[in-house]
Formats: sequence, C-alpha cells, structure tokens
Amino acid sequence: MFLNDSLKIFSGTSNPALAGAVCKYLGIPVGGAKLSRFPDGEKLIRIEDDVRGRDCFVVQSTCNPVDEHLVELLIYLDCLRRASAKRITAVVPYFGYARQDRKDEGRVPITAKLVANLIATAGADRVLGIDLHAHQLQGFFDIPVDHLTGELVLSRYFRDKKIESLTVVSPDVGNIKTAARYASHLGGDLAIVHKRRFSGDRVQADELIGHVEGRNVLMCDDIIATAGTVCSAADLVKSRGCKKILVGATHGVFAGPALDRLAAAPIDEIVVTDTIPLKEEARKVSRIKVLSAAAMLGEAIKRIHRDESVSSLFSQGV
Ligand code: R5P
Repeated sequence: MFLNDSLKIFSGTSNPALAGAVCKYLGIPVGGAKLSRFPDGEKLIRIEDDVRGRDCFVVQSTCNPVDEHLVELLIYLDCLRRASAKRITAVVPYFGYARQDRKDEGRVPITAKLVANLIATAGADRVLGIDLHAHQLQGFFDIPVDHLTGELVLSRYFRDKKIESLTVVSPDVGNIKTAARYASHLGGDLAIVHKRRFSGDRVQADELIGHVEGRNVLMCDDIIATAGTVCSAADLVKSRGCKKILVGATHGVFAGPALDRLAAAPIDEIVVTDTIPLKEEARKVSRIKVLSAAAMLGEAIKRIHRDESVSSLFSQGV
C-alpha cells in the first residue's frame, strides 16, 4: 500500500507492538522519536523525523500505568504541535479514565471529561479511539472523534465459529445495544443480565432476562477489568443450564483478581483484542485468545489521512 511521506505515525511506550502492526499494515515505518528521562524522573521526548506540515498520528493506549502513559501522550502531542505538524491525531486504542464519566454521587470527578480536555489542550486536532466505554464520550471532546468498535474484529471471529443454538448475553444493562447487534450479526437470541456494582471490584449478577437453557452463550462487553462482571454473569447463566460460555471483549485489562476469577469461572473461551498488551501472566492462560485491531486502526488512519469516510468501515469491514 503506497502512502507518501506526508503521513507519520509515532508510537508511545504503552503498546509498541500494536503501533508497529498498524505501520506494517500501512507499509510505512514507525516514526522516529527518542524518549529519555531527566534525573528527577521527568520525561523528555524528541521527535527525530521532520514533521513540519505532516499529518501525524500518535498511538498510545492509556492503560496501566495509566497516569504515566497519559502524560507521555500529552508530551507527544505538545512536541508535535511545537514542531509544526499540520494535523495531529491522538490514536487511543484503550482510553483509561473513561469509566468515570458522570457524577453519580457527591464530590467525585468526571475524569473522562478531564482527560478529553487534556488531550485537546495538549495539541490533538482529532481523536481516534476504540470502544470508549460509552458513545456519548465523543461529546466530551470539542474536537472530532472517530469511534471504532472491537465488534468489527470480534464478531467476525465468532461468526466464523458458526456457533449453534446461540444466545448472546449482555452481562449488564449498559451493554444491551452491543449485545443486540452481535445477536443480529451472528443470528442468535438475546438475553440480559441485571447486575449490581458494590465497589470497583465487586459486582453481583442478580437476574437473567431471557432463556439460556441448552444454549451456547456468547457474552460480550467492552472491557474486562477485574472480571467481576463477566464471571458473575457466567455463574448465573451456567446455573440456568447453558452449554458453552464464550466471552468477547474489546479491552483485556485483567486487573487485580481478574485472572484468578477467570480461572475459576465456567467460561470456555475469552477473546479480547490487542488494544492493551496482554499481561505476562495472562499469556499462560490458554483460554484467553487475542485478536489484533491493527488492520482496523490502520484502515481508519488511512481514511482519515485521505479525508475519506471512516464510518463506511462499519459496513464494509476490514
Ligand atoms: C461496565 O459498565 C463495563 O461495561 C464493564 O462491564 C465493566 O467495567 C467490567 O469491569 P469488571 O471486569 O471489573 O467487572
């Protein structure tokens, strides 16, 4: 694929493998940059390529360590802006702090909005993200956002599996629309779990709306963090007599007790994408499979660069 020198893609340190795969898809090298630290721990980034008048993209997931990766992204954006890049797109495959998106109790922040402001202030002209947790997060940015979804990658994988007697289960009420789309693409029934959250890592699946007895279940979610949501829902659907349980999620955070919970859960396969590099411990879990979002991101970047439609990706696929 021929793309001229006007397109530059830089990689932060959070997910160089994904940034490399995106560049490989586009047939261009990863942009040159040197990252070092001052003795007091502050980061210094020096862009080594000429970016004046270029269309620049920085690929950086703000995954754990979240603050470290976020500040690095902000420094990259500032650096490119001051180096006279023509247009700068923050490519944030995993957008940390997204789940704090409303004040549902007193005296708490809305970090999703704060981070959106920081990214725009640092110099981004556009944002390219994948499953930002909620579609309305696009409105937190005062710059254009192209919002991709891991569904494009995951639903093809599950479709190729030709799962019989399929029921797609939304593990919570917030995910119903996504589950309904999976059900319609894959030709399955829909069921919904009602869950209660008691804290950041403690949830309980209370009730199931729909039937799963004798059915194979596909549970889909945007993120597996502590895995409380999917494991609790898996216990519930298993107790209602389902056969196999497959889980598909865009972001495999696998934080805290996640891997222990997944090991004990009645789940046959867990499929995530590579928006976040898989933790070392998770690589040993054979039930966890990782699909790459690189082609989808690469295609979106190509279209943004050429001022072509990104939304048509959803109908055409990649
Ligand atoms: C909730 O709104 C999200 O869609 C996920 O279900 C949730 O954030 C997953 O978190 P955990 O794995 O810690 O239950």
